[in-house]
Amino acid sequence: MDRRTFLATTGAGVLIPSHGVLWAQGAGAPLRILPMTDLVGGIDGRIGLSLNPATHDFGTGAASKTLGINHSYLGPVIRAKQGQTLPFDVANNIGDISTIHWHGLHIPGDVDGGPHQEIEHGSVWSPDVPIVQHASMNWFHSHTHGKTARQTYNGLAGVLLVEDDASLDADLPKTYGVDDFVLVLQDKTFDSAGQMSYDLSEDVFEDGFQGDTMVINGAIAPATQMVPTGLIRLRILNACNARFLELSMATGPLTVIGSDGGFLASPIEAESILMSPGERYEVLVDMRAVARNDLNVNLNGNGGGFFANLFGGNQLMTALTLTRTNKTGFDGSVPTELANLAPPQPSDATVTRSFQLKMDVGADLAALALAWDNFCGGAGAMAINGQPMNMDRIDETVRKGDTEIWRIAVDEQLHPFHIHGCSFRILSQNGATPPSYAQGWKDMVHVDEGWSEVLVKFDYEAPKDTPYMYHCHILEHEDCGMMGQFTVT
Ligand code: C2O
Ligand code: CU
Ligand code: CU
Repeated sequence: MDRRTFLATTGAGVLIPSHGVLWAQGAGAPLRILPMTDLVGGIDGRIGLSLNPATHDFGTGAASKTLGINHSYLGPVIRAKQGQTLPFDVANNIGDISTIHWHGLHIPGDVDGGPHQEIEHGSVWSPDVPIVQHASMNWFHSHTHGKTARQTYNGLAGVLLVEDDASLDADLPKTYGVDDFVLVLQDKTFDSAGQMSYDLSEDVFEDGFQGDTMVINGAIAPATQMVPTGLIRLRILNACNARFLELSMATGPLTVIGSDGGFLASPIEAESILMSPGERYEVLVDMRAVARNDLNVNLNGNGGGFFANLFGGNQLMTALTLTRTNKTGFDGSVPTELANLAPPQPSDATVTRSFQLKMDVGADLAALALAWDNFCGGAGAMAINGQPMNMDRIDETVRKGDTEIWRIAVDEQLHPFHIHGCSFRILSQNGATPPSYAQGWKDMVHVDEGWSEVLVKFDYEAPKDTPYMYHCHILEHEDCGMMGQFTVT
């Protein structure tokens, strides 16, 4: 049997030869609601985020060694408002160097938290992070050079929700944990003792880490949640290291209202959405029409593409079951208009840049996996435009305020490309317009055995000692060197 063969189970682990154990939670495990730090009403002093080693039970009954941010696994959901400045104190107690990057925020390079803003063990990084952008779902995670994949996998990640006047007034569900939920989706591998594991190999470098067990908010899926009768809002983050997830509902289409950088112009009904690592989508589920609905995830979701072929077809499972109570909840209807979003204007662009992602620059990945064992380090095995990531080299210099077209190309596989310090619009993917749900503000774009083009503008500065990054968000590829740096001045 192939080590990746999927076995459906309920309530127990099933041994998969020479790999791990596939775990699934018995029906009825309640959804874990990530604790919220709500700053919308005001900020009282500095906001402490402590990166710490911990142990965490994902639902296997065993304590896994993890990293957490103020918690045993993952961080709080931070909710802030446009116009605020967030005074963070990020304390690193993990026994290794780390960084925290604010993925999706439109902020200057010196508070971005990229690989140059290392926090030594035992010290505190205190950026004042200005929230200038509109309502959007963002996140934060380790961006430690060569160690991002392992540190993020172990738990150094969290969600940062930005609200604005319009989103706070909007006729949408917004009672956290009642009709408004944050879902952090991740794939994990657990060993036969039920402990989370992460082992590097040549395959893991090439494909990125592919866990066989779905975890939602730090607990093994499926989860169940009782909800009032009415509209339910799900704010979803794919925080997998490398897996693309195809999401769908058991009954009816998904009603997508937002993407990475904010609300769509109007709701989009989609049979399914394909989410890359790093992407966020917000959806509404109408719990008046049905007494129960399931959010399903296809672990090999890219429609018969590279991963599905490699890993043996669809792996459809339920991530979350919503069950209706007879309490009335948010009784409004799906809004018809959400945001003022004009179509992107490629004719505004004055600069075009090209990026060629490369998986193989001749390095012996198997030897690297053995040598480095627990982190990808070194960053010399993959490249963009022929150059593996080098902390001492600035790859691009961008002028603040210029509108640019970035064309990203790959020869093989499907790669999720991310750019710091901005939101962009996708112009084209292999010559086609992106799916309607991906036509709003984005900071991630799929590049599938071909090329994608985005229209982007940078409004904040990133000097050469704290440049922005662009990279593949398959974290093992990023750690292997599929990343570059740019300044904005
Ligand atoms: Cu989500 Cu450069 O990272
Ligand atoms: Cu980022
Ligand atoms: Cu990649």
